[in-house]
Amino acid sequence: MLCGKNVVLGVCGGIAAYKSVEIVSRLKKLDAQVSVIMTQSAQKFVTPLTFRSISHSPVVTDMFDEPVNYDIKHVSLAKKADIIVIAPATANIIGKLANGIADDMLTTTVMATQAKVLIAPAMNVNMYENHIFKENVEKLKKHGFLFMEPDTGMLACGDNAKGRLPEPEMIVNQIVDILTTKADFKSLNVLITAGPTKEAIDPVRYISNHSSGKMGYAIAKAAERRGGSVNLITGPVNINKPENVNVFDVTTAEEMYQKVNELYEKADIIIMAAAVADYKCSSISDKKIKKAQEGLTLKLEKNPDIALSIGKKKGDRVLIGFSAETDNLIDNAKSKLEKKNMDLIIANDVTIDGAGFNSDTNIVTIIEKSGNMINLPIMAKDRVADEILNMALKVIERK
Ligand code: PMT
Repeated sequence: MLCGKNVVLGVCGGIAAYKSVEIVSRLKKLDAQVSVIMTQSAQKFVTPLTFRSISHSPVVTDMFDEPVNYDIKHVSLAKKADIIVIAPATANIIGKLANGIADDMLTTTVMATQAKVLIAPAMNVNMYENHIFKENVEKLKKHGFLFMEPDTGMLACGDNAKGRLPEPEMIVNQIVDILTTKADFKSLNVLITAGPTKEAIDPVRYISNHSSGKMGYAIAKAAERRGGSVNLITGPVNINKPENVNVFDVTTAEEMYQKVNELYEKADIIIMAAAVADYKCSSISDKKIKKAQEGLTLKLEKNPDIALSIGKKKGDRVLIGFSAETDNLIDNAKSKLEKKNMDLIIANDVTIDGAGFNSDTNIVTIIEKSGNMINLPIMAKDRVADEILNMALKVIERK
């Protein structure tokens, strides 16, 4: 998959440096050429020999090593790289890069490259939240550096918090995405809804559903990676916001409706993956409802149907909806496609393991207006996202 691609992996000094060995191993299995540059501190955690054995290439540890091929190493690696990945990246390396300091092999290589640079920070949570560090990250982002959010979990310091290096598989997936992606969404504006909506009952209770936002966020990330300009309107979820995407937080269906109506006009493609609550309370109690009474009847009224409202006025825009079903999957999805004037509907049976709510995978049938159907096998939501975007482009081509 990565045959002919040169990945330069910068490894900094942190306990997560051992995970970088697996990154190299996974990249080699995908046929990438991997060159490792280790900072001095990194060598205290893992030996260069480990990386040399796995990468089958010399490991660069010092600016003044004897050159292998009589070229200037930081320039030759910088030139040959298709991507430079720094994982784990410490606050120190990020600080140096943000301030133009090039005092070792890794920083000089990054300064001399024109390739994309992907940075995966890993550190103590307080360092990660430090304002100076955050300013450095923002500065680098402005200059086009790409970042991965650290994971949350047990850190070396004993805190259970944000700061862990993402799993090697996720880092390698990101590298593959960057190196293999075509910019086929370059001139397109994509509007996406994701997650659940929450409808208050009283100040402490609400009506909602199990949507995690993973499906909609995967589409937003894929559209951005493929060069699109992406607006993501999201209900309350617990996942990281995608990089380089305009994210609009909403809580209720009414708020999502307002935001979609504000943004839909400039969209070329509108994809509605949100699980919008169909009903809200007719009146919201301003005090917590006491449980003294025997039973409780809530009076509900319909929320606006966002997809239906956009379907009526969409013009040339491509409108794609989802259909979350527990029975009669295809018939129900087809009738929504027609009623809401969609171009495509993505039907998912949320009762099947590996499909629907909160899962990292989905099993979907893409139904076209013509009635043509494409059944996809179980796939990571990231991959489903790409399939949906491919279909969206086909709809545009046919228009
Ligand atoms: O978020 P995840 O955990 O990853 O789960 C993904 C998912 C199951 C939420 C997603 O794959 C999905 O199926 N989303 C649509 C869920 C849904 O509400 O389906 P629906 O059949 O009720 O609605 C049909 C379409 O109309 C959807 O595009 C929905 O966004 C839209 N709709 C529905 C109601 C409403 N009031 N306004 C709407 O716009």
